[in-house]
Amino acid sequence: MRTFYFLCSSLILLVGYYSCSSGNAQIQALSSSGNVDSLQMIERGEYLVATIGCDDCHSPKRMGPAGPEIIPELRLSGFQDQTKLPPIDISEVEKGWVLFAPDLTGAVGPWGISHAANLTSDDTGIGLWREENFIKAIREGKYKGLDGSRAILPPMPWQVYRNLDDTDLQAIFAYLKTVPAVRNVVPAPKLLSELP
Ligand code: HEC
Repeated sequence: MRTFYFLCSSLILLVGYYSCSSGNAQIQALSSSGNVDSLQMIERGEYLVATIGCDDCHSPKRMGPAGPEIIPELRLSGFQDQTKLPPIDISEVEKGWVLFAPDLTGAVGPWGISHAANLTSDDTGIGLWREENFIKAIREGKYKGLDGSRAILPPMPWQVYRNLDDTDLQAIFAYLKTVPAVRNVVPAPKLLSELP
């Protein structure tokens, strides 16, 4: 009988302990991955994107009296599919010049023509990307952040941004996922020999 009571009380203690400790684990999980932390991360990402130059190339602009001005509703959506570029004089590139589209979203150099990517949360941007794709793209210069894909072309300065630490890259990605979606399929790059 004694053994029976002992077993019963041990069982009650055990169940009590388990429910308390799993409750604590839940609370801990909420406080470490909860809204406060991810909000801070997004804010850090927003700050980084706003200060280290992503808009220079990735945001379409209109020409104002003092130079290119970002078009807010197209922010970070890359080279616009419908853009008509002025004629490209390849002989200037052969002389050693690099040409930029007026809003800086396209560039022509010895590598051919490259178009800044859509970084918004749309499916045509980084909407379907995972964090590891983004980190691979920036750290290894891999298109779409995929193993075996082509190299990311100039003038994207991934060789500089690769020096950002993991937390900052994660923050940038978390922020980009919140950037309003803009549907825009950026044209593929072309070699100089393929340009008219
Ligand atoms: C000087 C211009 C320039 C700046 C500044 C720049 N980019 Fe880029 N970026 C480009 C161009 C052009 C491409 C497309 C290159 C290609 O097609 O290979 C690109 C491509 C990318 C890609 C790869 C997209 C894909 O589909 O694989 C990512 C990710 C990216 N940029 C993120 C950023 C972020 C984040 C910043 C700011 C921290 C930034 N870029 C700043 C020009 C720039």
